[in-house]
Amino acid sequence: MLSVREATVFDLLNMQQTNLWCLPENYNLKYYFYHVLSWPQLLQVAEDHKGKVVGYVLAKMEEEDTPPHGHITSLSVLRTHRKCGLATKLMTASHNRMTESFDAHHVALHVRKSNRAAFHLYSQTLDYEIRDVERGYYADGEDAYDMRKVFVSTKASEKPTPPASPVPEVPPSAPGQVGAVEPPPPP
Ligand SMILES: CC(C)(COP(=O)(O)OP(=O)(O)OC[C@H]1O[C@@H](n2cnc3c(N)ncnc32)[C@H](O)[C@@H]1OP(=O)(O)O)[C@@H](O)C(=O)NCCC(=O)NCCS
Repeated sequence: MLSVREATVFDLLNMQQTNLWCLPENYNLKYYFYHVLSWPQLLQVAEDHKGKVVGYVLAKMEEEDTPPHGHITSLSVLRTHRKCGLATKLMTASHNRMTESFDAHHVALHVRKSNRAAFHLYSQTLDYEIRDVERGYYADGEDAYDMRKVFVSTKASEKPTPPASPVPEVPPSAPGQVGAVEPPPPP
């Protein structure tokens, strides 16, 4: 059975190894630690029934910019475990944490123009849209699509709508009971 869960520091070496097997864009371990110590909710791993890591997503928040938004640093699934829906699950789990924990407005990423599998995942399965083409973005000179997915429901847009019926008059709160939620006493 395959499952997706939040990553811990103990997964970082396996995530790095998976990245080395799957992608030419590699990072030193310090960069993985930086992610997990800063935004632990956003790192997810997929594991098989023996607990072996077979995929990961490494993501972060860009918090200085307004509105706050997430960024997918890296995603990969071992060749032996592709087309089982794991990347979709990893990405969805990280997206959900971005909105729940950080009220992210959107998430952004770069993908090689030639990466058909990843482009299909982002554009068709996960509803990302192309924002721009960055010429020569990658070290070997390949162009990147700069893609973005705007989250439909952030906390700001989830505030309950006011009731349609008239609100019964509530007596002023007693001192020290500011914001008390007890129902008003019967007339
Ligand atoms: C891209 C990658 C992460 C997809 O992982 P995956 O677990 O196989 O993806 P999923 O099973 O969740 O598939 C998601 C969708 O992409 C489609 N897809 C997957 N591989 C595909 C391929 N080779 N060609 C076309 N579509 C593909 C699936 O059919 C599915 O589409 P659907 O939702 O319409 O059915 C994986 O191929 C990979 O690790 N590639 C190498 C690393 C990489 O390119 N990372 C992304 C860098 S930006």
